[in-house]
Formats: sequence, C-alpha cells, structure tokens
Amino acid sequence: MSDTIVNVEGLDVRFGSAHVLRDVSLALDRGRTVGVVGESGSGKSTLAKTMVGLHQPSAGQVWVDGIDVAQAGRRELAAYRRRVQMIPQDPFSSLSPRQTIGQTLAEAVDPARARVGRHRDLIATWLERVGLPADVMHRYPHEFSGGQRQRIAIARGLIVEPSLVIADEITSALDVSVQAQILELLAGIKQSLGLTMMFISHNLAVVQRVSDEVVVLYGGAVVERGPVGEIFAHPQHWYTRALLAADPGSPGFSLDVERTPRGAAA
Ligand SMILES: Nc1ncnc2c1ncn2[C@@H]1O[C@H](COP(=O)(O)OP(=O)(O)O)[C@@H](O)[C@H]1O
Ligand SMILES: [Mg+2]
Repeated sequence: MSDTIVNVEGLDVRFGSAHVLRDVSLALDRGRTVGVVGESGSGKSTLAKTMVGLHQPSAGQVWVDGIDVAQAGRRELAAYRRRVQMIPQDPFSSLSPRQTIGQTLAEAVDPARARVGRHRDLIATWLERVGLPADVMHRYPHEFSGGQRQRIAIARGLIVEPSLVIADEITSALDVSVQAQILELLAGIKQSLGLTMMFISHNLAVVQRVSDEVVVLYGGAVVERGPVGEIFAHPQHWYTRALLAADPGSPGFSLDVERTPRGAAA
C-alpha cells in the first residue's frame, strides 16, 4: 500500500488571462517534508491555496489525504481543512488580539467547546513543545515578539494533529537568527513527532534545513524536483543554480552561474 498523502498532477491555475500554475505535479509521502522554493510571484501561495480548496484548478488533479480537493463538497472540505493545517506567514495578523494564547489554542482543539480549562494539559504540552513556558497561555499576542508568535502559530497548527502541515513563508518576516531558531524547532518536532509538511519559501537554504525533497517553481512551472541532497549537489536547471549562487548560506555559493534566458536548456 502506498503511503502517499499528496498527489498533485498536471495542475493548472489561471486567474483570467494570467496562467499562474502550469502543469504542476508533485507527490508527498506521509512523514516526509517537501520544500517548495521559487522567487516571489512564482506561484507558491497559489499552489498552497489550491491544495486547501481556496482556488479552483483550471486543469489537473489535486488529491490530498484521501480526497479530490477540487471536487469535494462543503462538509468534506470543512473536515479536510482541520486535517490539513496552514501556518500563515505573518505572525502579527494571524493571532486574534482579543484572545489569550490559551483561548486561541483551545479554539483550535475544539471550536465548539473552546474553554482553556478543558484543554489545559494539551495546551501546556504544546506550548512547551514549541519552546514556550506553559503559563503564556494566560497572555495576549501583543506581549510576544514575532518569533514567539510564530511559535504560537505553529502550536495552534499542530495541536490538532493534522495529517499535513502547509507552512507558507513562515520565517520570512523574522530576523535571520530568529528564523534559524524556528527552523531548528520545526526540524526537532519533525523528528520527534513525524510531521508531514509542505514547506514553502523563496529561500533555498531555508528550505534545505527542513526538507527531504525539493520542488523548484519558476514562472508557475516545476523546473526541478528531487531529494534535497541531490538538488544541492547536482542542480540540473539554470534557475536552481542561480538560487544556489544567490544565497551565501548555501553550499553552492561559489558556483559560477550564468543566468540563461527562460526556455534555455537546463
Ligand atoms: N487571486 C488572484 N487573482 C489574480 N492573480 C493572482 C491571484 N493570486 C495570485 N495571483 C498572481 O499569481 C502569481 C503568483 O502569485 P503567488 O502564488 O502569490 O506567488 P508566490 O507565493 O510565489 O509569491 C502572481 O503574479 C500574482 O500576482
Ligand atoms: Mg507567497
């Protein structure tokens, strides 16, 4: 039996005349992390949103966690959106300012009975797992830094034990040192709890830290995909080489890359 949780095949998404995703295919097995990397505007967020049913494909298949997302009915989608958790990019707008951290987490666990007392132990466990003391459950978002808020957003996403986590640029708004701490946290949780994740970033070095496989998007198309080690050791496409060369944190930094025009051979 296959342990595939994501199977996207030949996905096209168009907004009017804009052809934003072009024949995108990717697969992901349970317990693994796929990194999706590409510059701003390459279609990463559109891919993520299509996978949770927020955009309709103009062609292709999106199978995730046993459902055909584009064909799913409203009830099926509602249940599905609990199993597939998106962690948002902006740690300042994503947490409700009028709720304590505990209330936010309680609501994630059980929207119908969102009382902190009812879920106190689970909330404390998750706060500790993301590196925060349990008593922060009584505090409000404005009392926390961007990095701490992202830890809280991660706890909120994971506390429901989702079958898939989609993290879209979750470290992009953070300072480099805080970014590194969040990546370390995710890598640790992934090891101890076996997360299945799609990790999206414009930064290849960031993606490398947590991913098993990498998909490189350019202009809405997949130009390269493979195991993370292979992509770094032997990038095939000029755009991947350019991403490596542009990033001083990556092992490929010293490569002498010439940017080739679009459509040129890899
Ligand atoms: N709802 C929308 N309507 C029209 N165009 C959109 C919409 N969402 C995204 N786009 C366009 O699709 C392209 C890809 O955007 P996006 O998926 O946000 O890229 P990324 O996340 O890689 O930066 C961009 O050119 C963007 O302007
Ligand atoms: Mg985006």
